[in-house]
Amino acid sequence: CIVPVVLCGGMGSRLWPMSRVEQPKQFQPTLGKGSLTYFQATLQRHRSEAFAPPLVVTNAGQAALVHRQLDELQLQGRVIGEPVGRNTGPAVLAAAICARRENPGAVILVLPSDHMIKGDINRIIAAMLPAAQDGRIVSFGVIPTYPETGYGYITDGGAYQDYAGLHRVERFVEKPGYDHARSLIEAGGVYWASGISLMRADTLIEEFRRLDPTTHSAVTAAVDGAEMRTLGIVLNEAAFRRAANEPTERQVFERTPKIALAPLHGVQWDDVGAWNAVYQISDQDRDGNVLHGDVMAVNTRNSLIQSETRLVAVIGMEDTVVIDTPDAVLVTQRAYAQDVKQVVEKLKAQK
Ligand code: GDD
Ligand code: MG
Repeated sequence: CIVPVVLCGGMGSRLWPMSRVEQPKQFQPTLGKGSLTYFQATLQRHRSEAFAPPLVVTNAGQAALVHRQLDELQLQGRVIGEPVGRNTGPAVLAAAICARRENPGAVILVLPSDHMIKGDINRIIAAMLPAAQDGRIVSFGVIPTYPETGYGYITDGGAYQDYAGLHRVERFVEKPGYDHARSLIEAGGVYWASGISLMRADTLIEEFRRLDPTTHSAVTAAVDGAEMRTLGIVLNEAAFRRAANEPTERQVFERTPKIALAPLHGVQWDDVGAWNAVYQISDQDRDGNVLHGDVMAVNTRNSLIQSETRLVAVIGMEDTVVIDTPDAVLVTQRAYAQDVKQVVEKLKAQK
């Protein structure tokens, strides 16, 4: 069976000021109070005989929160704690090493925990199992709808004869600039990387060894030197710090000939990871606005305006995002919404 590897160590910083260090987006309810969190919805989605208990990779400080959310679902999961954040590459590699030690032929399903998904994704995943077992790294793709600069892009190199539903990858481009993203979409035959991928654990480990030997040896040492705690293991900090601070897409997917594409046809996928994405997937009114809470918009178009507690009025704006929370206000152009991350980084540096 397939081992779900659930990544939930991100800060959700592009949704600041709604998403905070103490409560990143993946641990917030999807549909308001009382509903499952994004993280729990991810766990539930891949819970059946086809799947082993999940391996959850998160920053060590969030292990207790992760366990509480697992317990609410009465789900046994193992938690790998990162002593410092090194982005998704080292996190996925650590999980792959643990999975292979338990089962040399383990196939892992890497899952971000910040998405909304509707439709039968597990049928498509199961159909890709033979390709993964044969050593392919299968990245699941969705049809792009606008030039988002926060996603990976996969250019379709044509269908494989021997695997139904699997396509060759001409190029994998992680987070292109706006003009590049636009030209990729205009050229056609391109998919957004959903962030979900399927592969044998040893395939990924081998590609890390080949493409980034420093990170490979750092993460191997971090697993070897891990501390056992009641809440799970915590990777060895001195070793883990030596790993490159990069996403798997940059470390491996952009560079490996083993990468392959499986389009998620018939599945609705939304990453609600940045304010522009929230705007894009929400119902817009006649003026193209998305208004949440006690807000008023006058002569304003194509804007997202949200208030938690008080009245917010916006006049004469276009393509603008205004997010009001009790202790912070964000105002940005939609096109710059990815840069909210920089605000959070500056705040962290000030602490
Ligand atoms: N354990 C752990 N450690 N998890 C992490 C870390 C980390 O250091 N950093 C991020 N994560 C988690 C996040 O919580 C999220 O669930 C997932 O990994 C993806 O990280 P994001 O930071 O949200 O990535 P992204 O949205 O910029 O890009 C990824 O997703 C896009 C689609 O949503 C990439 O996979 C892109 O290629 C993809 O298009
Ligand atoms: Mg994301």
